[in-house]
Amino acid sequence: MSRLKGKVAVITGATSGIGLATAEMLSERGAKLVLHGRRESLLAEHSARLPDCAHMSGDISDPTAFQSLLDMATERFGGVDIVYNNAGLNSAGLIEDIDIDKVCEMMRINVEAATRVTYTAMKLFKAQGRGHLVCTSSVLGTKSRTGAGAYCGTKHAMEALAEALRMELAGTGIKITCVEPGLVITDLHRGQAQRPEVVQNIARPLLPADVAKAVVFALDQEDHVLIPRVMALAADQVV
Ligand SMILES: NC(=O)c1ccc[n+]([C@@H]2O[C@H](COP(=O)([O-])OP(=O)(O)OC[C@H]3O[C@@H](n4cnc5c(N)ncnc54)[C@H](OP(=O)(O)O)[C@@H]3O)[C@@H](O)[C@H]2O)c1
Repeated sequence: MSRLKGKVAVITGATSGIGLATAEMLSERGAKLVLHGRRESLLAEHSARLPDCAHMSGDISDPTAFQSLLDMATERFGGVDIVYNNAGLNSAGLIEDIDIDKVCEMMRINVEAATRVTYTAMKLFKAQGRGHLVCTSSVLGTKSRTGAGAYCGTKHAMEALAEALRMELAGTGIKITCVEPGLVITDLHRGQAQRPEVVQNIARPLLPADVAKAVVFALDQEDHVLIPRVMALAADQVV
């Protein structure tokens, strides 16, 4: 039987892409779910389809949003075992054409909101004496790339916070993992002039389910094993 059976997982950025694929994979293993994102109609579809699944829609940059989500999970399922801190945006471009307002919006979601999710989850986990926080970083969480400096910066910030918390929480029974995907075909790059897999010359990019497998791998370990970082790349991705 999966170690994930009966566990309660709260997932941000669960309307589409990696968050949704992870929700589906956790559900197959018997987890109970609380999903978050802005697109209410998609969330309603997912929670009608998946067993033991609740949802709340809203903007994760609202400072009260994540605490409300945890409260909903506690009321409905009696506690929270897993938080997947996954909501994010990507705003990229060279100096000549970067949209600074979009970059600042990305900073608010990828850094400010993700940091609030992290600390709020950790306070609950400390009070419970258990819990596993998984954060979606990126292959760009540990390197940089032209045109993507600000996005890389948001993911470096997440990696730095996660590593500090890993050290703070060692021996407490509370775990933290960064998942570092390479290029994945999702809605993240919608609106970009050119398909990223074409720009990066990747014949077969990752699918959301490929990343969900990495998340489930990190979560489905024995209590004494921590996977602090797990990277998943398309086999032909160079940078
Ligand atoms: N795709 C890639 O190549 C790739 C690679 C490395 C890392 N990542 C990371 O993976 C994570 C998930 O992205 P994805 O690729 O799966 O793309 P996606 O399908 O666009 O998912 C992004 C999720 O974030 C949610 N979100 C964005 N802004 C939000 C806001 N203000 N309030 C609430 N929810 C918000 C979106 O929900 P709504 O639109 O419904 O609000 C959506 O569910 C992101 O952190 C991204 O940086 C992606």
